[in-house]
Amino acid sequence: MGKLGRNEPCWCKSGKKYKHCHYDFDEKLEKFRLLGAEIPPRNIIKNEEQIKKIKESAKVNVAVLDYVSEHIRAGVTTEEIDRWVYNETVKRGAIPAPLGYAGFPKSVCTSINDVVCHGIPSDSVVLKDGDIINVDCSTILDGFFSDSSRMFCIGDVGKEKKRLVEITKKSLDVGLAKVKPWGYLGDMGHAIHQFALENGYSVVRDIGGHGVGLEFHEEPWVSYVSKEGEEMLMVPGMMFTIEPMINMGSDEVYTDELDGWTVYTADKKPSAQWEIQVLITDDSYEIISW
Ligand code: MF3
Ligand code: CO
Repeated sequence: MGKLGRNEPCWCKSGKKYKHCHYDFDEKLEKFRLLGAEIPPRNIIKNEEQIKKIKESAKVNVAVLDYVSEHIRAGVTTEEIDRWVYNETVKRGAIPAPLGYAGFPKSVCTSINDVVCHGIPSDSVVLKDGDIINVDCSTILDGFFSDSSRMFCIGDVGKEKKRLVEITKKSLDVGLAKVKPWGYLGDMGHAIHQFALENGYSVVRDIGGHGVGLEFHEEPWVSYVSKEGEEMLMVPGMMFTIEPMINMGSDEVYTDELDGWTVYTADKKPSAQWEIQVLITDDSYEIISW
């Protein structure tokens, strides 16, 4: 890569001169690279215009999940949730990102109890009192991607499962406390892992979070069992999901061979997941989707 002149247009396509845009950023990045840090590639650094568009996409994603929150209850099938998500997304001029993604047949993932993630909505699955369910929504608006998920407790949920759901939600705040520009993703992943362990749970290793915004799944792959000072450097303009899957029992999981998607805990104990989409800003972070 030839060095960009200070007066040339910045590589981020902001239209600004390099010296007024990512020049200082690149100098700083180079210092971290020389220290051995894993540096983000340029194609995952969003400019202001792109961030604005991704936030518009996220507004739809949040509205769809709000709709689900208001209507989900015992007796509803996961197929109905899929229909809500499709209708509420399309009505806002957007497309559900999962639909047709790598052959996924539905608009949303619905993962109940011992389903860890990627549950496929079905009219034969009826929500019942005591279930915990993750509803994972992802939206494409004008080509820009957003992704978040929430847990719902259906009716009267037992103490143990409720605690799993609450601790998993709290783990996001524990992770967020380590999210800052020029920190390491491993600081965040490590904090979440420790918090889960302290509470007697395990964290799924085989599936993680991801960069998101310009594509559904971008670099980096995000682990929640990582080590402090390791993994990719977090820099302004980067966006990724925090979406740990926390298990009541062991961290071992397997994928349903018949449908190729549904991931279960090996010990059949419950699993919970909350997901937010985070943007690294110049001095902090913003939660884009939740
Ligand atoms: N929101 C999920 C994720 O990013 C979607 C998985 S792909 C799907 O992990 F096709 F299953 F939706
Ligand atoms: Co995701």
